[in-house]
Amino acid sequence: MSPGEARNRKDLFKRRKFKAKRKPKLEGKRQMAAFKDEDAGSSRTKKNTGKSTVLAQMKQKLQGSRFRWLNELLYTSSGSEAFEIIRKQPELYQEYHTGYSQQTEGWPTRPVDEAIKWLKCKPRQWLVADLGCGDAELSNSVAQEVKSFDLVAAVPGIIVCNINEVPMASASIDVAIFCLSLMGKDYGSFVIEASRLLKPGGWLWIAEVQSRFNTKDNIVLYDFIHCVEQIGFDIRQNERKGSHFLVLVFQKREDSMKTNTFESLGWPALKVCQYKKR
Ligand SMILES: C[S@@+](CC[C@H](N)C(=O)[O-])C[C@H]1O[C@@H](n2cnc3c(N)ncnc32)[C@H](O)[C@@H]1O
Repeated sequence: MSPGEARNRKDLFKRRKFKAKRKPKLEGKRQMAAFKDEDAGSSRTKKNTGKSTVLAQMKQKLQGSRFRWLNELLYTSSGSEAFEIIRKQPELYQEYHTGYSQQTEGWPTRPVDEAIKWLKCKPRQWLVADLGCGDAELSNSVAQEVKSFDLVAAVPGIIVCNINEVPMASASIDVAIFCLSLMGKDYGSFVIEASRLLKPGGWLWIAEVQSRFNTKDNIVLYDFIHCVEQIGFDIRQNERKGSHFLVLVFQKREDSMKTNTFESLGWPALKVCQYKKR
């Protein structure tokens, strides 16, 4: 090999080495660029996630205020007004129930669980009317036959009606359940209807949110109990269940009054049930 050839080969070798050295650098740059892209992507994702969290929170807030509005509407309407409102806009019912379920999820026990517990110790042959049944959970959870009534048939089998006009014969049931369903401003007419449906000796089981009766001296609660007694019931149980609701159980007297108008009794106005803001 001539000295010239040797120099050329050395040069070539150097160039190859140089290329080989540069390659990883280039790779590194590419990797860096890719990493930067990824980083940018993840911060974009983070931004997007942040946006969707804010949107989800806003949606939740809107749903919460809509639930509270609906709740107030149902408590300040009469039974027949509520029936009309929901008949014209049945989608409101679903909105109400989604909000209601979210509220009661956080309670140590739900009122419907108390009703289930109470019925589990009672005769299986009893006929029960669940007045304002919601999704009729009670009927699927007890041994007794349960007729379920509400403004909407959220599940098959629910009979749609205003619970002050229940399509059942007088003196045909053993138990009437009002589980947080004395919602109308004319709720007294619901109780009178339950009295019509109940056999003498039958049971009236009521769960209501404690704050609806809240007064320093319990006067609203005593007035309420007094009205129910006046239409022919005896109080058998008056119990606070935790801090959220109370259970009142009455038994229909054999000699209970057959006729009584809602207006003549002076049922106390119960407060609108206030649920927590979420
Ligand atoms: C707070 S929710 C409770 C539902 C169910 N009892 C429970 O404990 O899960 C009250 C229910 O009463 C029903 N309700 C209120 N007023 C009514 C009326 N006038 N006639 C029929 N149902 C009524 C509502 O539609 C709602 O489903």
